[in-house]
Amino acid sequence: MDKILILDFGSQVTQLIARRVREAHVYCELHSFDVSLDFIKEFNPKGIILSGGPNSVYESDYQADPKLFELGVPVLGICYGMQWMAQSLGGKVEAGHVREFGYAEIEVCNENKLFHSLSDRVEGGKTFLEVWMSHGDKVTELPAGFKTIASNPSCPIAAMADEVRGFYAVQFHPEVTHTLKGREMINQFVLEACGCKPSWTMPNYIDQAVAKIREQVGSDEVILGLSGGVDSSVAAALIHRAIGDQLTCVFVDNGLLRLNEGEQVMNIFNKHLGVKVIHVNATEQFMGHLAGVTDPEAKRKIIGREFVEVFQAESAKLPNAKWLAQGTIYPDVIESAGAKTKKAHTIKSHHNVGGLPETLKLSLLEPLRELFKDEVRELGVALGLPHEMVYRHPFPGPGLGVRVLGEVKQEYCDLLRRADAIFIDELREFDWYDKTSQAFAVFLPVKSVGVMGDGRTYEYVVALRAVCTSDFMTAKWAELPYDLLGKVSNRIINEVRGINRVVYDVSGKPPATIEWE
Ligand code: XMP
Repeated sequence: MDKILILDFGSQVTQLIARRVREAHVYCELHSFDVSLDFIKEFNPKGIILSGGPNSVYESDYQADPKLFELGVPVLGICYGMQWMAQSLGGKVEAGHVREFGYAEIEVCNENKLFHSLSDRVEGGKTFLEVWMSHGDKVTELPAGFKTIASNPSCPIAAMADEVRGFYAVQFHPEVTHTLKGREMINQFVLEACGCKPSWTMPNYIDQAVAKIREQVGSDEVILGLSGGVDSSVAAALIHRAIGDQLTCVFVDNGLLRLNEGEQVMNIFNKHLGVKVIHVNATEQFMGHLAGVTDPEAKRKIIGREFVEVFQAESAKLPNAKWLAQGTIYPDVIESAGAKTKKAHTIKSHHNVGGLPETLKLSLLEPLRELFKDEVRELGVALGLPHEMVYRHPFPGPGLGVRVLGEVKQEYCDLLRRADAIFIDELREFDWYDKTSQAFAVFLPVKSVGVMGDGRTYEYVVALRAVCTSDFMTAKWAELPYDLLGKVSNRIINEVRGINRVVYDVSGKPPATIEWE
């Protein structure tokens, strides 16, 4: 299989380069800029992409091994990657007088494989492209063998190439959608310049992954903690495809799930796909430990701890299990690799099944480690999971435990579940579910006065939260139509006895977070 190696110099958007390459149906991996030359040789890429980064090449220790230019492999440098390429090959990089940030138009000045047949505007026989620039430094002198392939007044060498060696470099960011023909540029680099075959497709991937799982696992048994979320569900379906009954899933109902979620998971996996699933109803155990606890982080810890406890007890009943399967996906892998070098600030401790392997003596099976979220979804559909499940909004590990503010009580969870289901129902009805990235109801344990019929009521409040985001790091509140909000509010107040007021959360992230706790 042809592969592209992406070297990350720390740009915020490096992951997007990988996305674009995968969209061209070419497999790629992203690694830190300072991997060794031996690693690169062993990886055996058909092409290398150098990402952007926040530093200046002439004063930074963000230097890859320049011997990579001697491997006979095409290289594409982006922004910092271009500057590092220029400097490493004998060109010159200087600080610009002004930072260039935002849309720019560049003129294509020499026929080349990267921009071949691309244009956003043609005037007077000249071809122009709309691109996204974000840089301070720029290349001011070409290295030997290079020619300028795009230019504009503020950045005379906006792109350069040495097509004999297969080296290309652009000062702008082709990986972001603001560069209108960026996707095509990356396509042309990987398919034309590097000559990769577009063989990274879902059916091919399923065959490969199934073969790999069979080889890894042999006749051993595997256990998997099924949460009903996309990643663990797709991992379960894939592993089941590979090894059938050697897989046992453990589905822990902690009492903090959404309305009818347990039933749905059992229907899809057990009844429909024939997967062995142990359904553990641990509601009482979780509620017992959560009683009287109001601190959000303490609640998260308890929920995580109890999950491990229950899971461990169940796995002890499967003494032949040698493997623990997890739905780890590529962004998790990149993030934890990045977390080692970059200082990450923990705002909320995220509870996932990640705490398990140390306490259970099992080997890890992570068949989705190489996939991005949208690839995981595509895989799920290809494996026969319902579209609705695979494209469901994310749901936090601690579930309603962080959506019932303060102390978690069964009664509050029951009210919240019903209010939340109404909200989601109407979002789908109004065709807004897919336009929001995450939407849910939050239970506020305060009472307010209302009037219903002839009587005064004194009941709880529910807040609705809906956000639009691409990465969940920042988010905007969704501008839901008033008639949708009105209908949801009416239905909740009429149908959920115990709630007499509904409010809509209009806070962005930052400064607020998506969840309320
Ligand atoms: P925040 O609230 O930090 O949420 O803006 C960002 C995304 O993370 C999810 N989230 C969690 N997921 N365990 C999880 O597995 C957690 O403890 C947790 N807290 C927040 C949240 O739903 C949103 O998608």
